[in-house]
Amino acid sequence: RQPIIAIDGPAGAGKSTVARQVAANLNLVYLDTGAMYRAVTWLVLQKGIAIDDECAIAELTNQCKIELTPNQDLQSSVRVWIDGTDVTQAIRTVQVTSIVSAIAAQSAVRQALVKQQQNWGKKGGLVAEGRDIGTHVFPDAEVKIFLTASVGERARRRQEDFNKQGQPEVSLKQLERDIAERDWKDSTRKVSPLQKAADAIEVQTDGLNISEVTAQIVNYYQQ
Ligand code: C5P
Repeated sequence: RQPIIAIDGPAGAGKSTVARQVAANLNLVYLDTGAMYRAVTWLVLQKGIAIDDECAIAELTNQCKIELTPNQDLQSSVRVWIDGTDVTQAIRTVQVTSIVSAIAAQSAVRQALVKQQQNWGKKGGLVAEGRDIGTHVFPDAEVKIFLTASVGERARRRQEDFNKQGQPEVSLKQLERDIAERDWKDSTRKVSPLQKAADAIEVQTDGLNISEVTAQIVNYYQQ
């Protein structure tokens, strides 16, 4: 099996960008597991299923087909398809973002998606990024990173992203509140709460740029 690098951490710590760069650097495949939870959330909304209808959501998750294809452009995320619809943009809306934690807290949803992630990872050769990669999805990963940054720093980065994407201005205070709320939801839920694996290396990224963080991780991998 080829190596697996697991990158976990809270929302907005820079996991996607860093994971993508590390994958490109080491010629490994990048797996964005958050995109899968977002895609299911999008489908739930699209079908008008109630967010607490766990049975219907379980069935939907077991039947849907999620495809992730790498984007040529390193700056943008992966392309995401669910049941043949390209939802790359649609899964990043405020609406999906505000509901995804509730969907990801349902154990049937996690079971189905984790199984698919593990199937994709059978041969290794992945940089997988999420909340439970080092603890549940790939507990045997060769390198486990727990990426963090202060709430203030993460809000500032998110604001920068919004500006770059030409999205309407959101205040730092509001972004800090949103991030703190998602941290709370992701780390207090009953199933697979966000946790640092015992054998993960914590990388605190305040004041570091993407290439510095990428270099640190590549360095851990090569040691
Ligand atoms: O990483 P991203 O912000 O796209 O993830 C969206 C949401 O999906 C997270 O807030 C979390 O609730 C959920 N998630 C998860 N387990 C993962 C990846 C994401 O529960 N491995």
